[in-house]
Amino acid sequence: MFSEYLVDFLPRAKRVIFLTGAGVSAESGISTFRDPDGLWNKFSPLELASIEGFVNNPERVWQWYQHRRQILNNAKPNAGHYAMAKIQEFLPDVHIITQNVDRLHQAAGAKNVVELHGNILTNRCFKCAKAYTKEIDLDSGELPKCESCSGNIRPDVVWFGEMLPEKAIEKAQEVSEMCDIFFSIGTSSEVFPAANLPLLAKKGGAYLVEINPSTTQISKEADECVRELSGNALPNLLKDIGF
Ligand code: APR
Repeated sequence: MFSEYLVDFLPRAKRVIFLTGAGVSAESGISTFRDPDGLWNKFSPLELASIEGFVNNPERVWQWYQHRRQILNNAKPNAGHYAMAKIQEFLPDVHIITQNVDRLHQAAGAKNVVELHGNILTNRCFKCAKAYTKEIDLDSGELPKCESCSGNIRPDVVWFGEMLPEKAIEKAQEVSEMCDIFFSIGTSSEVFPAANLPLLAKKGGAYLVEINPSTTQISKEADECVRELSGNALPNLLKDIGF
């Protein structure tokens, strides 16, 4: 599954990056976005994951996020999440840069997780950005309002057309441009600036590994492509390196 070169190099690597996408959570029962059964084949991203969609119909957006949270409540990290967290225990400098908002990396015990697209578990005010910590209860018929400025409350995820959290993208670019091995796992590599990170790593001399059952926009740049599910490939990588 993995090359001898990678199995020999990984335990000696000074810095390793795991860039993860929705595919890494697929085996935890969470739909991806662009697979044939993905969310964007059932719902409109502009209606549900954009500022316009929220301004036009905040109720619909809230219904959708609460539905996704429900699914997440029953989701557990899978073997792929645990394997990445395990590799972090053995190597000195491993960052997980995730596009996922489900916090399953953290639930698997991972450290150094950079969330490029925010997270679905917390909320803030759409107007003044103040954190909102109360329970969201749509059955009350009232949408949650900010206690300071009575603005609408929104989930802490990055919507289409919005800037990524500055600290997150800066950190992601900083660690990606100076790493030995960059794994791109479970992402279609279609959304920027995340999709640029593997190319940044490659430019900095990193060995680029893709773990994805399908080919993607960056497959041709990869030094090694493992056409396997991440929940299968990553525990095998752990075994290969004897961790
Ligand atoms: N293991 C590894 N890869 C998988 C698995 C799996 N078990 N299942 C699916 N995949 C791959 C698919 O082949 C696909 O290439 O995961 C990828 C999922 O791609 P997308 O659905 O486009 O998800 P992602 O790349 O994370 O999307 C990026 O787009 O809509 C926005 O904000 C959203 O963060 C998301 C961003």
